[in-house]
Amino acid sequence: MAIQWFPGHMAKARREVTEKLKLVDIVFELLDARIPVSSANPMLDELIQQKPRIKLLNKADMADPAATARWLEKLSGGNTHVLAIDAQSGKGLDKMVKLAEQILEPKWERMRAKGIRPRAIRAMIVGIPNVGKSTLINRLAGKNIAKTGNTPGVTKAQAWIKVGKTMELLDTPGILWPKFEDKETGYKLALTGAIKDTILNLQDVSVFGLRFLEKHYPGTLKARYKLEDIPDIVPLFDHIGRLRGCLRAGGEIDYDKTAEVIIRDIRGMKLGPLTFDL
Ligand code: G4P
Repeated sequence: MAIQWFPGHMAKARREVTEKLKLVDIVFELLDARIPVSSANPMLDELIQQKPRIKLLNKADMADPAATARWLEKLSGGNTHVLAIDAQSGKGLDKMVKLAEQILEPKWERMRAKGIRPRAIRAMIVGIPNVGKSTLINRLAGKNIAKTGNTPGVTKAQAWIKVGKTMELLDTPGILWPKFEDKETGYKLALTGAIKDTILNLQDVSVFGLRFLEKHYPGTLKARYKLEDIPDIVPLFDHIGRLRGCLRAGGEIDYDKTAEVIIRDIRGMKLGPLTFDL
């Protein structure tokens, strides 16, 4: 999905999320388990304010399990609740509803005490593009209904999806923009496919990826590209380019193609599950 985040679009997205927030009891903030910090929208705290929130670390199947375990511990506490899920396979989704019920129980108890018959919990999903919002909504709904209206600016009547007996979910997610704070965050968003390839220089992204792997996952890097030792960046590029047949006529290494191959390998889990926010 190619959303260009100009100030006007950001204002509109913010407005739309603010409107939707008024309708719900609880918010599921969808994050990418590979980048639980870099995939957060910086403005969400301000928009959500005191409303209960569950952070969902999605695509947990693609993230380093040890890092996910550390993030679950680090991010939870106080009013913040965190779960690791895999929206594609549906892993962890049963816990979402149960946790929401648990968090809202005191409020529902107060309603019951006043003689008000408890209604279904109303919830919404919020996140940056490509984090898995539609996949999750479709999974929870059990059919393909979240395919449209997934773009800021598409206004339509809010519809609710029944999730089990106790929850109703807004059928369209809140979409917020990714962080544009620094280069490193940009590279991490690019490596996980959250931002479009045309925005950043692919060679820069792949160099960041290789340096990150060298530092944090050296064994994985060596195994994937058949390396005894990890050389400097240019010989490393030459080696990977040659290994993967990224050559121009005349046998010269095609660095753009090599960069693409490296990024595709990382995104496609050819180096196994990885976490970039450590
Ligand atoms: P969005 O609504 O937040 O924009 O995201 P969407 O559901 O469209 O998901 C983006 C991509 O992420 C999809 O891949 C989807 O299948 C994948 N995805 C979502 N949740 C998970 C998960 O838990 N695990 C894994 N491994 N993948 C997940 P796609 O259809 O291939 O799209 P694209 O990669 O071509 O953009």
